[in-house]
Amino acid sequence: MKLAIINGPNLNLLGTREKDIYGNRGFTEYLEELKSKYTKIELFYFQSNIEGEIINKLHELGFTYDGIILNAGAYTHTSIALADAVAAIKTPVIEVHISNVFAREDYRHVSYLGAKCRGSISGFGLKGYEMAIHSFIS
Ligand code: DQA
Repeated sequence: MKLAIINGPNLNLLGTREKDIYGNRGFTEYLEELKSKYTKIELFYFQSNIEGEIINKLHELGFTYDGIILNAGAYTHTSIALADAVAAIKTPVIEVHISNVFAREDYRHVSYLGAKCRGSISGFGLKGYEMAIHSFIS
């Protein structure tokens, strides 16, 4: 099974950025843990701070991969272009947020992606990515 995790803007700073909200752990370390736990899954990782690069990656993977786990960061709340890209591809996408976006500022309560995704996971920390993997493999 081929799964991809795509992280959007500022998520390269996990472990450094607003630790009270996003925790102490860097994503690379967490990714290694996931890879060693799910050895049968081909797990591809991509992070970009640039909207168009995320859209290009969705187009590139979105016709051959079995699932995409997408944390689009703040683009979630702003980007119709990303929502259109999710709608345009064949691969199912699960939206993940580390923090509980519904317990935060009002502008984070809106997701342009949610309606185009298979489902959304929010508020479970990094564990949310693993929950998404589980939903693809079960
Ligand atoms: C986030 C939530 C977004 O509102 C925020 O802009 C992020 C991270 C999360 O994982 O909780 O960058 O997607």
